[in-house]
Amino acid sequence: MGGGRKKQAFQPLLIRFVLAAVVLSAAAAPRCAAFNPRMLFLVKPDPIVLRDHGGALLTGNLTVNLLFYGRFTPAQRAIVADFVRSLSTAAAPRHRAAAAPSVASWWRTTSLYRGGGARVALGRQILDERMSLGPGPLSPGNVTALARAAGHHRGAVTAVLTAADVPVVPFCVSRCGAHGRDLAGAHGRARYAYLWAGNPARQCPGQCAWPFHQPPYGPQAPPLVPPNGDVGVDGMVISLAALLTGTVTNPYGDGYYQGDAGAGLEAATACAGIFGSGAYPGYPGKLLTDPATGASYNAVGLGGRKYLLPALWDPTTSQCKTLV
Ligand SMILES: *[C@@H]1O[C@H](CO)[C@@H](O)[C@H](O)[C@H]1NC(C)=O
Ligand SMILES: *[C@@H]1O[C@H](CO)[C@@H](O)[C@H](O)[C@H]1NC(C)=O
Repeated sequence: MGGGRKKQAFQPLLIRFVLAAVVLSAAAAPRCAAFNPRMLFLVKPDPIVLRDHGGALLTGNLTVNLLFYGRFTPAQRAIVADFVRSLSTAAAPRHRAAAAPSVASWWRTTSLYRGGGARVALGRQILDERMSLGPGPLSPGNVTALARAAGHHRGAVTAVLTAADVPVVPFCVSRCGAHGRDLAGAHGRARYAYLWAGNPARQCPGQCAWPFHQPPYGPQAPPLVPPNGDVGVDGMVISLAALLTGTVTNPYGDGYYQGDAGAGLEAATACAGIFGSGAYPGYPGKLLTDPATGASYNAVGLGGRKYLLPALWDPTTSQCKTLV
C-alpha cells in the first residue's frame, strides 16, 4: 500500500500514536493501513476538518463486548469494563459534586456527529486466557478471526484486547491498536465493526502508554502517574477510547475522516497527543491530579474510577475538545 507506507515515514517524529487502522477483511485477504497521526503538528493546527463521507455511522444502542486475549488480572479487566460501563451512564451525584468531568460527558462529543451518537452498554466479557490462536505473534487477520469467533451481532462491537506478553504484528511499528470491519462470513451485505487494542506495558510503552511512560524520543518530561496505577492498562484504555470513537464515527471507512480513505485522521487521532487544554509536544495539557495518589486524570466514571481520555474532534467547532 504505497499511501500507507508513505505515511509511516512520518512516524519517527511522533511521540504518541494511538493509531486507528481500517482493517478490510474482504474474502481471506485483510488489508490494513496505518493512520498518520501528526500529533506534533497539532499545537497550532490548521483547522482540522474531518469530512463526513456520508456512510453509515453507529448510532442508537450499541453493545461493546470485550474479548481478553491472554492473561489479564481481574483488576485489569475491571479497569476496562468500568470504562465501557461509564460511557453512557451519568456519574453518581457525589462525583458530579466533585466537579470532575464524567466519562459520559467525554463520550457525548460523539453525539455531535451526524446521527446523534451511540448509547453504549457493556456486553459480554470473553476470557481467552489459554490463547485459542496461540501465543502470537498475531496478525491483523488473526485479530479479525478472534472478533468473528466472538460472534458478530448487529448493534454490537467486539473489542479484542491483547495482553502485554502477546505480540501483535503491527504493534509499535505503526500502531497501538486498530479498528476495522469484517465482511467475511457475513450474510448478504452485513458488515461488522470491531477493534483491537493491546496492553503496551512491554511493547512500546513510550508510544502507546504515553504520558504514563517516558516517550522514546522528543521532549522528555517525567511520566505521569496513571489513574488506576497500571501503566499498561491505563495506556490501553487511551487506545480503546480513541478506537471506540473512531469505530462509531467511521465504522466502515466512509464516515468522518480527513485524508486518505482507510488511512486518515478520525475523531481522536485528529487530536492525538492532546489530553487537556494548552497541550504541546511532550506536554499532554492541563489535567486533574488525585491528591491521594498523585495520579493524573481528566474524567471520572462509575464508582468514582478515574481515567485519562484523549481530546476529541468536535464537529460543531472543528476544534479538538478537551475536558479540562
Ligand atoms: C435502547 O436501550 C434503552 C435502554 O435499555 C431502551 O429503553 C431503548 O428502547 C433502546 N432503544 C432502541 C431503539 O432499541
Ligand atoms: C494467523 O494469521 C496468519 C497470517 O494471516 C495465518 O497464517 C495463521 O494461520 C493465523 N493463525 C491462526 C492460529 O489462525
